Amino acid sequence: MNREQVRTIYSQYSSVYDLFFSHFFSPRIKLGLERSDIQKGDRVLEVGVGTGISLGLYPESCTVVGVDVTRKMLEKAQEKKAAMQLDNVHLLEMDGENLTFADDSFDHSVAAFVVTVVPNPEKMVAEMKRVTKKNGNIVILNHFCSNNGLLLKLEKLFSPLCERWGWRSDVSTNLLSNHCSLHIKEIFKKTRLDPWSIIIATNNK
Ligand SMILES: C[S@@+](CC[C@H](N)C(=O)[O-])C[C@H]1O[C@@H](n2cnc3c(N)ncnc32)[C@H](O)[C@@H]1O
Repeated sequence: MNREQVRTIYSQYSSVYDLFFSHFFSPRIKLGLERSDIQKGDRVLEVGVGTGISLGLYPESCTVVGVDVTRKMLEKAQEKKAAMQLDNVHLLEMDGENLTFADDSFDHSVAAFVVTVVPNPEKMVAEMKRVTKKNGNIVILNHFCSNNGLLLKLEKLFSPLCERWGWRSDVSTNLLSNHCSLHIKEIFKKTRLDPWSIIIATNNK
């Protein structure tokens, strides 16, 4: 998927996204944020903030900057920010692979269900590392493919089909640890057979 295809697919999803995904994603984002050690006064970046289902889950004592490439998703996030009066939240249209923030602008960064959507996940993670302070947490939630076996073959087989729906199914955690040199501190799931993993990494730059 290139950036335009991402924009087209997620613009189409924007009005029904919460209906289908919020129930699954919100509790997992809450778990990830609870382990992310966000302190009073911290600045947190969320890349691919989408319709903003996470926004009410951050402590109000921190500043949250949410970016996304799909304007229609951001419009939904703006509606939530206004409805919940979240003055600590700032939303910007921006490409997660080309962040316009200076180095070390944030204490922590978050990407929930985005790594398998962006055209170049290595570039996005590199950007998250650059703008996050050393030893800050990088929280990544996603479905990751198995490392071997029949399931991996199926995930690779179905990935082109999944791309039509707006995500890939063939991204593994090896991409984060090996290609992105991310220091993974903790990886866990809400339940043992949950399809989504929650990763807490330390920014080891
Ligand atoms: C599956 S949604 C996840 C949204 C939100 N994080 C959530 O948990 O509901 C993926 C989001 O990533 C955004 N996205 C895809 N590529 C992006 C990029 N290069 N930079 C910023 N956002 C991107 C899409 O527009 C979409 O809103």
